[in-house]
Amino acid sequence: MTEPVKVLFVCLGNICRSPSAEGVFREEVRKAGLEDQILIDSCGTGDWHVGKEPDSRAIAAARKRGVDIGDLRARQFRSEDLDEFDYILVMDRQNLADIRDIWRQNGGTEPVLFLGYGRSGYDEVPDPYYGGNHGFEHVLDLIHEASEGLLTHIREQLA
Ligand code: 4NP
Repeated sequence: MTEPVKVLFVCLGNICRSPSAEGVFREEVRKAGLEDQILIDSCGTGDWHVGKEPDSRAIAAARKRGVDIGDLRARQFRSEDLDEFDYILVMDRQNLADIRDIWRQNGGTEPVLFLGYGRSGYDEVPDPYYGGNHGFEHVLDLIHEASEGLLTHIREQLA
């Protein structure tokens, strides 16, 4: 049995976008029967929400799509993640700049924009924290589309 592929989603607070991405991608992976071969986690660049559950709006929006993220708890990114994970997938350019600063010092897996695996025309997942519920639906649409592209890519690597 080979080592699982390790995927890490990163946003700012780890309570809206990256736990949503973790939940949606985990569901895609489960449906594909690859849960033993792909390990998934998420974290935030900031530490304000460490130990907290996802934002209630993110939990509700995900639940409407059959994805349960209520058990996830926020943690902060650490430089060791660059050595441990095979994919470091960030939500926006600020996340990219923040993780790239650490990557330049540390080396390891280079962080990339998650939506690079999608075809929506967007390259960033907008921060929904200060917006209304619609923002969370849009986030899930973007995440779902990119998750399919990511899974296709990883399956090609596993084949
Ligand atoms: P996230 O959203 O990065 O998608 O988890 C945010 C959550 C919290 C804050 C900002 C963005 N905040 O400023 O506390």
